[in-house]
Amino acid sequence: MSSQDNPEENLPAEQEHAPGAVTVADEKNPFADPGLPPHEHRVQDIDEQAAKRSERTVALLFTVSMLATVGFIASYVTIGIDTSVYVWPIGHISALNFALGTCLGIALFCIGAGAVHWARTLMSDEEIADERHPIEATPEVKAKVMADFKQGAKESALGRRKLIRNTMFGALALFPLSGVILLRDLGPLPGTKLRHTIWSKGKLLVNMNTNEPLRPSDIQVGSLTFVKPEGLEEHDHDFQTEIAKAATMIVRIQPDNIKDKQELEWSYQGIVAYSKICTHVGCPISLYEQQTHHVLCPCHQSTFDLSDGGRVIFGPAGHALPQLRIGVNDEGYLEALGDFEEPVGPAFWERG
Ligand code: FES
Repeated sequence: MSSQDNPEENLPAEQEHAPGAVTVADEKNPFADPGLPPHEHRVQDIDEQAAKRSERTVALLFTVSMLATVGFIASYVTIGIDTSVYVWPIGHISALNFALGTCLGIALFCIGAGAVHWARTLMSDEEIADERHPIEATPEVKAKVMADFKQGAKESALGRRKLIRNTMFGALALFPLSGVILLRDLGPLPGTKLRHTIWSKGKLLVNMNTNEPLRPSDIQVGSLTFVKPEGLEEHDHDFQTEIAKAATMIVRIQPDNIKDKQELEWSYQGIVAYSKICTHVGCPISLYEQQTHHVLCPCHQSTFDLSDGGRVIFGPAGHALPQLRIGVNDEGYLEALGDFEEPVGPAFWERG
């Protein structure tokens, strides 16, 4: 007959004096130690059917964790990044984020809940009192720890309850896949994308404030206007990515005041278009001094001369602002005649 058939064999031997227990007060120990209360056995300790039910519950939780991890991966692969879903009371949120978060939460919760239920119902819950001991472990203590560990492993019945063991290993082995699959978001490498913007020949210069294409007559001498390429809308998924490279400013200078020959050729009746992204570390330039034609970056005070090819005249910026070549189309609107001929923003990208 095994100990399973007779759970009483597993019960702790009655001890008249539990370790550390002091039953009566004396001079050295003026407070009596009541000792541990009588141990109450759980139903799983005495009923193998109940133990089996707990085993199946734990296995179910680990299995649900595995399914949730598979659901996490399936959600990542199948749900579009733009798909939204209504969730009360939050409102409309990203379906992908909702699915990933829910699956990840369930996978983690079920592993935790399975472990807790296993410990509470099937592992030994025998109360033990132990003496306080010095922090430094003696060889005897180490030997005792190892013996306790082996005893714990034996009592957890990891070897005997193969269903729990296998499903737990399955849940723990599958769960890291959630993190591995997210590594896909690190790629692909940017390639030459940072060298180009969405400006191209024929794209109209659209006022960023009014969202209207501009005619030369809209640009007054001394004014500073921020423009974006035609077709780039704020609600576009990649708006922030694209405008971070394509943001452009235009000013009008008397053609006689333009010192740089190429700048004059790339302008239209004194209207010049320059990248709005500072070549130092990429802040948006926003301050224009109309008498000197200087623009100032508010971050570290780099100053560029828009009447002289966007040359740096002060500050830490490494090189001139890239100029956009512009003209006018048949309908009289300002248009780009191509992309910037060099990477916009910090000089860092030129070294790539
Ligand atoms: S980012 Fe413009 S000066 Fe530093």
